[in-house]
Amino acid sequence: MGKPFITAKTPALVTLEPGLFAWCSCGKSNTQPFCDGSHNGTKFIPVLFKLAEKQEAWLCQCKQSKTPPYCDGTHKSL
Ligand code: FES
Repeated sequence: MGKPFITAKTPALVTLEPGLFAWCSCGKSNTQPFCDGSHNGTKFIPVLFKLAEKQEAWLCQCKQSKTPPYCDGTHKSL
């Protein structure tokens, strides 16, 4: 599997309502940091995550985080 496209070398701060989300892992989505189906035809799959409560989160956009969908600071070394 090739490397994901680096969308940005900074995370996205988002406020999320309770629900199910799909984080883009390929880096090609036009609705970052969320999946828009652009991974179709590749070996990348979105990371699904569910929130029970409203939450602010820093979501990874460099697509290199070891704790996706959340930023772990890896972007600082890119
Ligand atoms: S934006 Fe990817 S680890 Fe921070």
